[in-house]
Amino acid sequence: MYFKQILDERCGCASYLIASRQSHEAAIVDPSIDTDQYVPLLQERGFTLRYVIDTHVHADHISGARRLAAEHGAELCLHESAKVTYPFRGLANSEELRLGQLRLRVIHTPGHRPELISILVINPPRSPEPSMVLTGDSLLVGDVGRPDFGGGDASAQFESISRLLRLPDWVAVFPGHFEGPCGKGMCGRPSTTIGFERLYSPLLHMDRDPFVAELTNGIPARPLNMTAIEATNRGARDMPWAMLTSSPAVDEVGIEAIDSAPPNAVLLDVREPEEFARGHVPGALNLPQADLATRLDEIPKDRPILTICQSGMRSLRSAQFLRQQGIQDVATVAGGTAAWRAAGRGVEATDADSAPLRITESEWTHAGARTTNTG
Ligand SMILES: [Fe+2]
Repeated sequence: MYFKQILDERCGCASYLIASRQSHEAAIVDPSIDTDQYVPLLQERGFTLRYVIDTHVHADHISGARRLAAEHGAELCLHESAKVTYPFRGLANSEELRLGQLRLRVIHTPGHRPELISILVINPPRSPEPSMVLTGDSLLVGDVGRPDFGGGDASAQFESISRLLRLPDWVAVFPGHFEGPCGKGMCGRPSTTIGFERLYSPLLHMDRDPFVAELTNGIPARPLNMTAIEATNRGARDMPWAMLTSSPAVDEVGIEAIDSAPPNAVLLDVREPEEFARGHVPGALNLPQADLATRLDEIPKDRPILTICQSGMRSLRSAQFLRQQGIQDVATVAGGTAAWRAAGRGVEATDADSAPLRITESEWTHAGARTTNTG
């Protein structure tokens, strides 16, 4: 067999090329939008692409699956329950796809998304048992996929993970992400084993109730342009430009720049509404980063824009996206609302609740972004 993991540093995603070296048939799982990168891999080894599989409808990056399948005359595959507007081959639980001697066996593992599948790779001449499993955003390294990206369910994730943990210890685990916003505590390694995760992943030692609580409280903010990206991957919208694909230079300014900004400047707070309600710089306008692309019309293009978030990372990425869209007069507030508060400056709040915020900051949520900030 041939197996290659392809890591995308920009979004923290992993895609996979699996092929039979006997029949030269290949499958690609979770391809990135940069589909050209797979062509030399296929051509150099004389592989024919039979299947393009999306483990689920992604919400954090644009999938290249439709384009890749169309370009190569391959079958586009998703779980049979996937609610997308375009034609695809629906895969059922336990169904097997053949690549020469290899078997790709589908396991339905909902939780992150209802249609999410994991794929067992079996090479019968070597062993009747699977040697590896591609887990999409179910089991991640040191973590599991979060359940709030549309139709997800923490309890279903518990069941799915329990099911995966019944696999033998030696089975190698290849997830859909090594970092990025689909989890909150990913280790950073691109692969693991069932046995290692069973022993050392803190989530996997929890009973159902604490597991569900852990997954539904303290989640990272929804990713940049999630609304547009998820709708595009479903076929409901066509907004491939919603993915941040460049890193344009953006001025990072201190909180004092808010005071000295021209009167017509817009202070754009890209945090989630519940964070905004707990306290924001007076006069700020709330537009969560997840909705930037779909609500771009609400942003005045002819006025200076300062983006702000909790501590500076989401606002940097948002400012980069606005620059990518051709908006020139945009800067980001380094240190964000946390720096504003730390300087003893007053905030406006519409929610005085003292309970812990549901939204948390995570070290690994911001794949591809500059990492000097943590927000
Ligand atoms: Fe995902």
